[in-house]
Amino acid sequence: MQPKKLKRTFERDKQTNMVEVFNLWTLILSLIVVKLYHWIYQWNNPKCKGKLPPGSMGFPIIGKTFEFMKPHDAIQLPTFVKEKVHRYGPVFRTSLFGAKVIISTDSGLNIEMAKTNHMPGMPKSLARLFGENNLFVQSKDSHKHVRSVTTQLLGSQGLKLRMMQDIDILTLTHMEVGARNGGLDVKETVSKILIECLAKKVMGEMEPEAAKELTLCWSHFPKGWFRISWNIPGNGVYRMMKAKKQMINILKEMVLKKRASGEELGEFFKTLLGEMEGGEEKISVESAIEFIFIFFLIANEATPSVLAATVKLISDNPKVMQELKREHERIVRDKSEKEKKTGLTWEDYKSMTFTQMVINESLRITSTAPTVLRIIDHEFQFGEYTIPAGWIFMGFPSVHFNPEKYDDPLAFNPWRWKEKDLTAIVSKTYIPFGAGSRLCLGADFAKLIMASFIHHLCRYRWSMKTETTVLRRFILTFPGGSDIQISQETEVENSAG
Ligand code: HEM
Repeated sequence: MQPKKLKRTFERDKQTNMVEVFNLWTLILSLIVVKLYHWIYQWNNPKCKGKLPPGSMGFPIIGKTFEFMKPHDAIQLPTFVKEKVHRYGPVFRTSLFGAKVIISTDSGLNIEMAKTNHMPGMPKSLARLFGENNLFVQSKDSHKHVRSVTTQLLGSQGLKLRMMQDIDILTLTHMEVGARNGGLDVKETVSKILIECLAKKVMGEMEPEAAKELTLCWSHFPKGWFRISWNIPGNGVYRMMKAKKQMINILKEMVLKKRASGEELGEFFKTLLGEMEGGEEKISVESAIEFIFIFFLIANEATPSVLAATVKLISDNPKVMQELKREHERIVRDKSEKEKKTGLTWEDYKSMTFTQMVINESLRITSTAPTVLRIIDHEFQFGEYTIPAGWIFMGFPSVHFNPEKYDDPLAFNPWRWKEKDLTAIVSKTYIPFGAGSRLCLGADFAKLIMASFIHHLCRYRWSMKTETTVLRRFILTFPGGSDIQISQETEVENSAG
């Protein structure tokens, strides 16, 4: 063949090849586009036997997470929820943290779901942190066992006999240190009180070095809780998991050392392992340590920030502050010199009626995050809508902001609790601690810590900067900190002598 002809043939073949490659790529791309379209369509229209609640699932994987996580005023329901309720009604579907979610602001449905569903609902980042084998989710029996052990420590008898004095002394000490330094950060201080108090009861006496290390690990948690679940070196989830590993190792080392030397473990730990009943160990040391880690994590999550928000609400309401001072002055005044030396008693605590009203009101108004979180374990019919199994259920306590139940609901008004049962931690119109089988185990303990803190604070002249802001980004946040200034000059005499 002549070279010219050969070249033409070669060029023609090359062109044909290119067309074929082009066609192949067009086909591959079309298939990808069709698949992508199908995936997006399925994402936005999840399969369900009945009719799903209305809503929008947002972009695949990311869903509506960024919109949901926009910071908002802490004493208002999230703008995201308010807007969607306005558009879709009280129950709607969406996607958050990579999971399919049903959001409900219907109080009847919230209580029903809390009672009939057992598994706690959480994004994968959190589930990973908790671990699959944690006693809270492992089985109904292990959950029952840890609930019963925790209630022994944190039920009213446990609080009265085992915790009251420790909480009082720790709060008094931290407050005195704060007063000497001219002030303190409420959130940080409450966190220290809480961990020191629980650590002693759970683990027994702790070496100061181990306690310091534990506190350090702690600092990685609150910021990393709720986020999309990828565990990539350097990111929040990664740091969180590293801190978890470190903490578990510290706890394990401590337990093994104590057991080897015959030193006492905390009574809570012993009961958890079943040692106190003299029987066989009910659970392994590993599971007990995992449980204690989770328990500390949950315990430290809400109380410090709710209390800091309460202090802000008191500081912004001089009439409330005055009434509190009056109540706590009375408690100190009515004590004999001998009684002052024994510190705050259970009877003193029970006589703090106005303080309890302040705490109840603060818990009502700061409950702007879901308080019922479950994985829906069976399909449920709600009117014309089907609430599908396998999805996460988030129940917002919007009943706290219903003007038919609470007059002028956005006002911080502790007096609305006058003559009401102040010991109830759950009712049809009040669910700051959730409801059903997962009802908060630390509710009474948290309320006692709050009351003790308010009591000791009221002995001083104190103020919180007016520019202190409290926002919510799923959890309560204080962009400028939660500092208070405390003057050495006490308002009333030291109640603990
Ligand atoms: C103001 C402070 C607190 C608030 C607002 C709060 C709120 C809650 C809420 C809403 C739940 C979920 C309930 C549900 O899904 O139905 C919960 C569960 C829980 N809380 Fe609290 N909590 C607080 C303090 C504490 C403290 C101090 C502790 C421990 C010392 C604690 C221990 C627990 C535990 C162990 C659970 C899980 C219960 C279970 O799954 O059976 N909480 N809390």
